[in-house]
Amino acid sequence: GQIEKGGFPHFMLKEIFEQPECLTNCLRGRISLDKQQVTLSAIIDYKKQLLSAKRIIIVACGTSWHAALIGKQMIETYCRIPVEVEYASEFRYRNPVVTSDDVVIAISQSGETADTLAAVKLAKEKGAFIYGVCNAIGSSIPRATDTGTYIHVGPEIGVASTKAFTGQVTVLTLLALCIAREKNTICDEDYKCIIKGLCEIPDKIREVLQENDRIAELSQTFTYARNFLYLGRGFSYPVALEGALKLKEISYIHAEGYPAAEMKHGPIALIDSDMPCVVIATHNEMYEKILSNIQEVKARKGRVIALVTKGDDTISKIADEVIELPETLECLEPLIATIPLQLLAYHVAVCKGKNVDQPRNLAKSVTVE
Ligand code: G6P
Repeated sequence: GQIEKGGFPHFMLKEIFEQPECLTNCLRGRISLDKQQVTLSAIIDYKKQLLSAKRIIIVACGTSWHAALIGKQMIETYCRIPVEVEYASEFRYRNPVVTSDDVVIAISQSGETADTLAAVKLAKEKGAFIYGVCNAIGSSIPRATDTGTYIHVGPEIGVASTKAFTGQVTVLTLLALCIAREKNTICDEDYKCIIKGLCEIPDKIREVLQENDRIAELSQTFTYARNFLYLGRGFSYPVALEGALKLKEISYIHAEGYPAAEMKHGPIALIDSDMPCVVIATHNEMYEKILSNIQEVKARKGRVIALVTKGDDTISKIADEVIELPETLECLEPLIATIPLQLLAYHVAVCKGKNVDQPRNLAKSVTVE
């Protein structure tokens, strides 16, 4: 009923708007701005197992798999440990190479996804140390793992995952910071900057949420589309995948996420004046490259919806629609850039009259194989 939705028309919108508070809860007791320190109890208790990992394998499905891709970049960048990201459903049926030198991280909102649970059991049999990143307390995956960290974002009701994704990315960031600090693979300056940046994320998400009305308005223009392309590079590439998944799940518009530079190896053939392209084009090291990707889309008359950093006046001249985002560290951008993509998918679906909280054919938790 209405009461549970806290005045919002759908759980999904409520959960999108909860994200500042959810991430504050997720960070509570784990990060200290005063002490400039991150602590995860799992790292204290299982330091030896986690720090001796020669390789990390992350297993997950759906949105959690997208969070894993961001975790991989974070861990490889700051901890210098090789990370592989696997669909749990592929991993478990492949007789994968896993040994006691590996740490396997399982990411699951529900903690009940059958394939992820099976992947955990298989990896455990092969001697790996298993770390869970879950939301549902006491669910099957946390019970099957050796240790882990809850994301503490509260129950997620909307079938399309929103706050769990940002919670997962937050926990993976904390984990990377802890391991990197212990292994001395991160410099003091980066460590402190990321801690400060993380503490500022909830307020920056609040800022992005103020764009809701404008995103609702521009969404009306795109309900005609039969296809959408989402482009991003580096840390924003998994965000592009997640944005495309959100749109598919609830609006039933076909959407594909792509690393922007790969566009020229295929998707560019699809671009015409009917094709909206959502481009994550924030001001970071890849800016010039992404700018030229936008020009390539415009040269083929594609319609560009660009996510830019506040104050960008170059892309706003070329793109059809621009959504401005507050500046943050490149590695934290996924936590900001995902928000407008959740809102875009939500509003397009609502405009099309779709049931956003319970999209057809999808289940919140997939306990079948
Ligand atoms: C289903 C849900 C998705 C979710 C995926 C993985 O497909 O509809 O929103 O991302 O399962 O779920 P998990 O609970 O393991 O994160």
